[in-house]
Amino acid sequence: MRATLQDEDYDLLRDYLASTAGLVFAEHRRDTLAAIVADRLAATGMADLRAYVASLGEPGGERERLLDAVTVQETQFFRNLPQMDALRSTVLPELARRTAGRRRPLTVWSAGCSTGEEAYTLAMLLIETYGRTSPPVRVIGTDVSASALRTAQHATYSGRTLAAVPPTTRERFFRPGPGRALVVGDDVRALVELRAHNLVTDPPPFGPGEVDLLVCRNVTIYFSRPTTRRLIGRFHDALGEDGYLLLGHSETLWQLSDAFTLLPVGDAFIYRKGAAAARTPRQAAAAGIALVTPRGARRRPRPARAVPRPATASLAPAPVSPHRAVAAPGLLDAARRALSAGDYADAARLAQAACAGEPLLAEAYVVLGHALSTMALDEAALDALRKAVYLEPGHGIAHFLLGGALARLGQHSLAAVSYRAAAATLPGTRPATVEAYLGGRAVADLVEVCERLARSSAELSAAEGPVSRGRSAS
Ligand SMILES: C[S@@+](CC[C@H](N)C(=O)[O-])C[C@H]1O[C@@H](n2cnc3c(N)ncnc32)[C@H](O)[C@@H]1O
Repeated sequence: MRATLQDEDYDLLRDYLASTAGLVFAEHRRDTLAAIVADRLAATGMADLRAYVASLGEPGGERERLLDAVTVQETQFFRNLPQMDALRSTVLPELARRTAGRRRPLTVWSAGCSTGEEAYTLAMLLIETYGRTSPPVRVIGTDVSASALRTAQHATYSGRTLAAVPPTTRERFFRPGPGRALVVGDDVRALVELRAHNLVTDPPPFGPGEVDLLVCRNVTIYFSRPTTRRLIGRFHDALGEDGYLLLGHSETLWQLSDAFTLLPVGDAFIYRKGAAAARTPRQAAAAGIALVTPRGARRRPRPARAVPRPATASLAPAPVSPHRAVAAPGLLDAARRALSAGDYADAARLAQAACAGEPLLAEAYVVLGHALSTMALDEAALDALRKAVYLEPGHGIAHFLLGGALARLGQHSLAAVSYRAAAATLPGTRPATVEAYLGGRAVADLVEVCERLARSSAELSAAEGPVSRGRSAS
């Protein structure tokens, strides 16, 4: 029988989870919450939800089990390869230069480390960069889930979580465990300290300025914006001067904090403590900050397949984000014209050049993603469109196009999320941008289409079961 939650019970639980762990359970996740709580009530033999919530009390015990059940612990080693490349090529070598000769250890915080893969991956990258001894380094992995931390302590893994580990890394940093499992090597484990810590209610586990690199990926997606804003403020305090902050691919500081600078590093985006305008190039050089060059320009889309021109291809030049300087406006306009004329390969080439010239310009990635998905190159389009929504989360058209690419790739659960985001953001998207894509239709019509597509994608995902729903976005 399907579990349900009456309004009062839902409000009670939602408020409890928001205040104890910052977790947001919006209306569309009400059924999920109902199913989890039904399980917990059955396991504890309690019939009344009010009495159950009142019994949760202090950390530990049933409270821990409820938090374990409501948090998503999906993770894997070397998750998000562009970020791993950015750490290897730029961030860690630069931190090595910056901290050379310093007595305090180079400190990396994996906040919301789940079952440990992220913290151990960081330790492996540190050993690759620095060798085993110098400079002194440490990785602190923290999480609110006690069961996730127990798995992390065990450091024994098998299956999908190891999929992205290169063979040489397996050989170098793991030893065989029971069955087909692999155990993280002692040299890696020696660098990692695991601690129970609630990012929302506990004081930061570091003094001001103690952290050099803070990795908090795929954690704030479950928090409200005010909770995330407060957390980012604490991260800012914990980071040292010019310290780095790595968020998940769908988490951005857009409209949350101006106290960090967004840097494109290869195919990843990384934040550095300090406002962009506050530093001159000379100051940056004095601080030892590496120049980061986008590598996207080297990539070329595969040749176009013949595809029908979509109804949304009538692109007139649209204004670009007012808060971004445009280094290559000619290229972007030319890309839009090529798209409107149906010259998709040209549009993609021009848009890619615009992205390379101005790597923080969301609109260039939107045009690139649009051109690529029109050529049925949805995998490549995903990359561009994810960057677009990362740089400008209020860009309704980018969410809409991303939803389409995901749906065509069979990633229905993620498509539903993107369509919902499109429906929510389209009314606030700059009118000229929307108009250019709509060719005369009303915004409200597209919002309705997005809501319908979100529902049907969610139904398809539910019909396919946990394989589709659990598919990771990065
Ligand atoms: C999806 S996992 C992300 C793991 C890893 N960072 C990654 O990206 O692969 C999210 C983690 O955040 C943790 N989390 C959720 N709320 C938290 C809180 N208030 N304090 C600390 N950790 C929290 C969950 O327990 C879970 O392990």
